[in-house]
Amino acid sequence: MRSKYGMLSPPGQVRLLQFLVQQFNSKNILEVGTFTGYAAFGMAEVMAPGGKVTGIELETFFCDFVNDRAKKNNLNVEVKEGEAISVLQSLAREGNQFDFIYIDCVKEEYYDYYKIIMENNMLPPQGIIVCDNVLWRGTSVTRSNDTGRKVDDFNTAISQDKRVSSARSQGAKGAAPLTNSWLRPCLLPGFCCLCLKQFWSRPYPNLPSLLGIC
Ligand SMILES: C[S@@+](CC[C@H](N)C(=O)[O-])C[C@H]1O[C@@H](n2cnc3c(N)ncnc32)[C@H](O)[C@@H]1O
Repeated sequence: MRSKYGMLSPPGQVRLLQFLVQQFNSKNILEVGTFTGYAAFGMAEVMAPGGKVTGIELETFFCDFVNDRAKKNNLNVEVKEGEAISVLQSLAREGNQFDFIYIDCVKEEYYDYYKIIMENNMLPPQGIIVCDNVLWRGTSVTRSNDTGRKVDDFNTAISQDKRVSSARSQGAKGAAPLTNSWLRPCLLPGFCCLCLKQFWSRPYPNLPSLLGIC
């Protein structure tokens, strides 16, 4: 169980998510990979009035834990149990749209999630997807293991996808140098926010956005 603690998004990153949720005035939020609900509750705390966070989680224990805590604390958070790909497909079939999507699940499946979201119009034009771990401890740059290569393939596909405006930024899990053309990594959360201002100026206002957090 101890190793699972590392799955939590770090506090600085949840603060960044909250900041983005507030800036985008997000209401319908989806989190792919919910674990104990730390990021989900963080986003629920600041989402627009009447909003909802829908989580997707494979493990029954975490689903029950989060759904129970949500009920007890009167927070509109609901976790759906199952494999992320099949739950996403069923949300798509039901015609759901989410204006804020946080992807933090199986790294090798990120592109599958993305394709389901985009092909089924689940992200409205002003929506944003935030993906965790797009550096994957540097291995997405060095392509030195299978996961790193998959994450790099995902990063490359996103950066070439004209349907979204994308940026990559340092999150809260430590520094790693980036040498590609995306946003340079920032070490301090405050500085990170400054850089992201460029991102918020939204040069392509009709496009949804994708932010990768390293
Ligand atoms: C990195 S953790 C999520 C952390 C959470 N976003 C947070 O910030 O606290 C990834 C979660 O995805 C779940 N998971 C793993 N494989 C999955 C799958 N195929 N479908 C759905 N959830 C899965 C794990 O059980 C784990 O709780």
